[in-house]
Order: sequence, then structure tokens, then C-alpha cells
Amino acid sequence: MKEAMSQHLTHAPSSATADAVGEVDAERGDWWRDAVIYQVYPRSFADGNGDGMGDLPGVTARLPYLRDLGVDAVWLSPFYASPQADAGYDVADYRAVDPMFGTLNDADDLIRAAHALGLKVIVDLVPNHCSDQHEWFKRALHEGPGSPLRERFHFRPGKGAAGELPPNDWESIFGGPAWTRTVNPDGTPGEWYLHLFAPEQPDFNWDHPAVHDEFRSVLRFWLDLGTDGFRIDVAHGLVKAAGLPDIGHAEQLSLLGTAAMPYFDQDGVHEIYRGWRRILDEYAGPAGEERIAVAEAWTPTIERAALYLRPDELHQAFNFEYLSTSWDAAALRKVIDTSLTAMGAVGAPATWVLSNHDVTRHATRFGNPPELGTQQREPGDRELGLRRARAAILLMLALPGSAYLYQGEELGLPDVTDLPDEVRQDPSFFRAAGQDGFRDGCRVPIPWSGDEPPYGFGPAGGPSWLPQPKSWAALSVAAQTGDPASTLELYRSALAVRRQRQELGAGTAVTWLDAPEGVLAFRRDAPGGGFVCTVNLTSEPVRVRLPAGSRALLSSGADYAEGVRPAVADATADRPAGGPLGVGGPVTDNPVHDGIEPVIAADTAIWWAI
Ligand code: NOJ
Repeated sequence: MKEAMSQHLTHAPSSATADAVGEVDAERGDWWRDAVIYQVYPRSFADGNGDGMGDLPGVTARLPYLRDLGVDAVWLSPFYASPQADAGYDVADYRAVDPMFGTLNDADDLIRAAHALGLKVIVDLVPNHCSDQHEWFKRALHEGPGSPLRERFHFRPGKGAAGELPPNDWESIFGGPAWTRTVNPDGTPGEWYLHLFAPEQPDFNWDHPAVHDEFRSVLRFWLDLGTDGFRIDVAHGLVKAAGLPDIGHAEQLSLLGTAAMPYFDQDGVHEIYRGWRRILDEYAGPAGEERIAVAEAWTPTIERAALYLRPDELHQAFNFEYLSTSWDAAALRKVIDTSLTAMGAVGAPATWVLSNHDVTRHATRFGNPPELGTQQREPGDRELGLRRARAAILLMLALPGSAYLYQGEELGLPDVTDLPDEVRQDPSFFRAAGQDGFRDGCRVPIPWSGDEPPYGFGPAGGPSWLPQPKSWAALSVAAQTGDPASTLELYRSALAVRRQRQELGAGTAVTWLDAPEGVLAFRRDAPGGGFVCTVNLTSEPVRVRLPAGSRALLSSGADYAEGVRPAVADATADRPAGGPLGVGGPVTDNPVHDGIEPVIAADTAIWWAI
């Protein structure tokens, strides 16, 4: 990669100034073990300049909202120079900010502002593939077969008499073959190159030392700028099985996540991450605050995911098994136990996540039959989905470890399932002939305020890059703020309770309590306190037995439980039994209830202190 392509700061980076990581907010080195990390999808969070596309100045302006929400860190999806063939996951220059999002100075401003507010910043690193507009790839194509730059990618001659067939049978995750044929500089048909995703995303060859050197340098570039860590895109894909063997099976997507594949989760990836960990450790802050890496690793088992988190490798991995688990008590309990055991075995925190920029929002998923999976076009039962989503967040935030939130879930946003085909931009939608790839539905810009689009996403005027539904005025941040029944206030209360109570956050175990079928009840203890989470996942009210002295702290539903007086939320308000509990106002410890067997409403979660 040519340095000349990259941008440079016009001032000293934030890591070299007084507001560097850790100096504002001295805290634990292992802050990440229980961090709540909020995913910002830069295209859709806030548009600072009014061009309809979110940008870095927009994010910076909204950071106080995230501080007040109560999260610890922000992860930003890619904002690097990119032709946007896959919404920025096709990187042309790893050291430059795309003009659509701003400049490197804007990134630096964002990091400084976040640190000043006590927020960490995690950036997305895309090491499996780059853009076909990356300097190396352009030159590799231009120089033709035999170019040493081709060795940094997977170029191969085709099979068949005239090389007209792909070199092997691998399929792209976005549909179609994982190989595209090139045209030689003289215009004749040439070699093929591998792309596990879109043709505009050629895979790097991680057997080549220049690729290793380049990414070590890119890590340092962003660490020097003051970032607190990286989310590693397709962390399981970098190393391919020697010889690129055929799989011998079509419809390979159906195997992903369950079967061993020659292009995913190869043992060779671990040595790469051991090297990266040494770099991250060099950059620990003055009080030992660690810089971290979180793996996006789809592996056949949670145990295989845990291998990425051995003490000398990465810090966290997304828990996709949890994300993919439907609203089912037994299945959730199983995935929770398996996750805690597998991550505990390597000394890593479990992580929990319900939504991200690649899946249908969970407020929609939970209102649809589970068989529809994570890519949906059905609106489902909106009321049921939201009710379950609210219960699900109390369950998730009560679990030991670190939690990921996806922008807009705190507003209870549904997926936008009725986007017209002509506005869709997800490359997998087109490669799958409109049968898959519905990721645009969760990427619609956030409503902040006002009665009509763009709802404060950007200055009034032009349309946002994906159209916002007419019905979103009531879901805006402004509309929900101060409404004790709103999903936003539920999130704010839950995150405040999580910060206050030492039983929550870090830890490795839950103690399951006896509960009727379809109900999850578990306890978490800390010196001087006890905490219980109950979740009724059935569609009927259920009576649950609680430890003596349990006091309700927070409920996901207004009709949460019969026979329980509200305990916290608003110390000044004497809310009637059955009213919203634990939303709105400061959370205080206000013992009210004792020795109870409450009836918990359907699809409702309640937090209790004992
Ligand atoms: C995973 C990212 O989350 C997704 O958005 C992207 O399309 C693929 N990796 C390819 O980079």
C-alpha cells in the first residue's frame, strides 16, 4: 500500500495529548470484561453535513447521548476510504477516512471527544479482504499474471480446457461463485481471483509476509491515533486450507457455522492473533488500560470460538449463537451455560448480542416465527416483537460479561421490511436475486427528533440514503425521552442499574433457580448483595417463587406482575401496583417487597434485588 494514498493528521494525535486514553477516567485495565459496547453504523447514525449520509462529525455531536445512555464504549463500523461496494467493508485505503464520512482529523476529533466523555472507541478492521480499488489489487491486475503483487491475493488459473471454470467449487457468502475471472492487460481472458464476499472484495493471501507486515502497521496507525481497540471482521477467514481444496457440496451457506470449511476457522489464524496481541499489549494505557480486539468469528462450536480468546490471543468474540437463539427458555439457558463454560475455560468474558448491521433487528425477529432465521422480510407481530425485545434486553444485561448494543435497538426500532427493491443497497440482495440479503432493513437512519423524515438524522432537506418510515416520529429519541414507558427509558434505567449494582457486569457464573417451564430465573451474587433476574418466555402469566426478601428493581413490561409493588425508578413517585416499574427518573434502592411469589406477565423480564 502506498503511504501517499493515506491521509495525515494536521495536528498531534489524541494519544499524544493530555486527554489520552485513561488519563481522564482512570479505571480498570480490564475495562472490557464487563463493558457495554454500542455499535455505531456511521452511515446511519447522524448526518452532520446534510448530504443524507451519516458521518463522523455527526457521530461526535451525538456522543453525549451515548454517554447519557450509559454505555462504556463505541464500536464504529468501517469509515475508511472505500468505493462502498459492501457499505465500507471493501477498504481501498486502511489509513484514510472516506470523504463521505469526513477526514482523518474528524476521526481524531471523535476519539478525543469520546475520551473526554469517558467513552472508549473501537474501530473495525477488515483483514480478510480489501477493495478491488486497493492499490495492491489494482496494480496486481494491471501488471498481469506473474506480477509479485498477485501473490498477495489468491489468483489462480481456471479449470477446463481454456481455463473457463473457477479454480475450485467455493461459493461466495453473498451468493454465486467465490471466484471472478480477470481480463489480461492484452484483453484476453485471464486468471481467476478469490473473493469470499463480493467480487469487489478480493481476499488477501495471509501466507504472504507483506500482508502480515501491512496489517501490523495498520494496527499501529490506529492505536497511535488513540483508538481503544478493534473489531476484527471475518476473523475466522484469513487463513485458507493449503491447496484450496474443493468442498464437494453446493449450497455451502447452509453449512456455515456448523461444518468445518476450508476457508474458515483454520488453525493457522491463531498465530496471527498472537502477534496482534503483543502489539495491543504494548499500547496499554498509563494505568494499565488494555487496548482490545473482538473477533467476528463464525465457528462450528462455541468451544472453537473460545480458542480465539486464549490469554495470548484476542479479548472477546461475538456470541452469534446467542444472537441466533430464538425466544425459547430452554434454548437460551443452554446457550448461556455453554457460553459461560467455554469462555470461562480460557479466562475470557462471555459476550452477548441481539442485533447488528447484518441481521434483522430483534424487535422484528421476536415477532416472527423462529424458522425465518436472521434475514427477514416479514414485519411480524410488532407488539409481540417489541415486548419480547424489551424482556430480552433485561435478560442480556443481567448476564455476566460484556454486552453489545446495536444503534437504534434502544429505541425499539423494528426492521424496515418493506424497503422497495430499487432503494436497496446490500450487495448480497442482488447476488442472491432478491431472495436474501435484506440487511438494509436494519440500516435505516436513526430518528432523533421531529415529525417527519429525516427526523433530525441530518439537517432538514434532502432524503437520507435509505428512506425512513413515516411511522417513526413516535420512536425518535426526543419522543421517547422522559416517557417512563418508553424503550429508551427502559435501556437508560437498565444501564444505570447495571452500573450501580456490583452483582452485575463482570463474573463468570449464574445460579439457576427453580422455575416453571418456559421461565428463566437466575441469581447473581456479590459481597453484600444479591440479584435475581426472572424472565417469563411463555405467552401466559406465570407464578414464580423468589428468594425471601426479593425487591423488584426494574421490569420490561407495564403489566409486569400481579401483587408486586414497584420498588425503584422514581424515588419521588408512588407508582400504583401494575404500573410501569423502573423506568424514568433516577434509580434508587427503595425496598418495598418481601417474600413473594409474584405472577409475571407473558414475555416479561423483571430484575430483583435481595
Ligand atoms: C461481516 C460484516 O459484518 C458484514 O457487514 C460484511 O458484509 C462482511 N463481514 C464482509 O466484510
